[in-house]
Amino acid sequence: MKLIAGNWKMYKGPAEAAEFCLGLRDEDLDGADVVVCPPYVSLAVSVQLLAGTEVAVAAQNVHWDEEGPYTGEISARMLLELGVYGAIVGHSERRQYFGETDETTAKRARAALAAGMFVIGCVGETEEERETGQTEQVLQRQVSAFESDDNLVLAYEPVWAIGTGRTATPDTAQEAHLFIKSILDVPVLYGGSVKPDNAAVLLSQPDVDGALVGGASLDLESFIAICRAGANIPS
Ligand code: 13P
Repeated sequence: MKLIAGNWKMYKGPAEAAEFCLGLRDEDLDGADVVVCPPYVSLAVSVQLLAGTEVAVAAQNVHWDEEGPYTGEISARMLLELGVYGAIVGHSERRQYFGETDETTAKRARAALAAGMFVIGCVGETEEERETGQTEQVLQRQVSAFESDDNLVLAYEPVWAIGTGRTATPDTAQEAHLFIKSILDVPVLYGGSVKPDNAAVLLSQPDVDGALVGGASLDLESFIAICRAGANIPS
């Protein structure tokens, strides 16, 4: 079985999140390992409506301090109080638009793990980095910022594949995942234009341990299709 995580990004306020979670609750997911990552304002309702199901709820980021003068930030302790069990850190959109670095990503991951949370750490090269032969160098640097932990998984999200409909080929993903695991031996999810029609072939790669799904996780039917694909492929 593979882990399927839906990253909603800045979509679905509380009302839409509630509608989605109610729908998800009624579905048979074939025992899939599933997590949804709503925006902060929709975490509470999602936790409430998915309580008692197999679907876990994680945040899209987390700060490294327990509390403090950090406008716009949320701590692991606050998330845990809400019943949120994990968080994404270092997503390329955070790195690209909000100045997130390997260092801040590492601090966030370390604090969340120390607080007992599950963490999805994101890595991935840009198109220019791939075209100029820097993929391994970039992955080496980004992955080395993390430390191995039972509650850590990484997500390989090539920036050129995010929201573009240009998925990495199964071979490209497999090769990158193997390289990442040679640096840090943790499960690695693939992210970047995962859709119902390409999920099974990507997830069938031996070192693709799951998927981090953006756009296709917003639609209940397509998310369920990807979850079922994940449930039916052995780890
Ligand atoms: P898309 O699935 O929309 O390409 O997004 C991937 C992603 O960034 C998940 O975190």
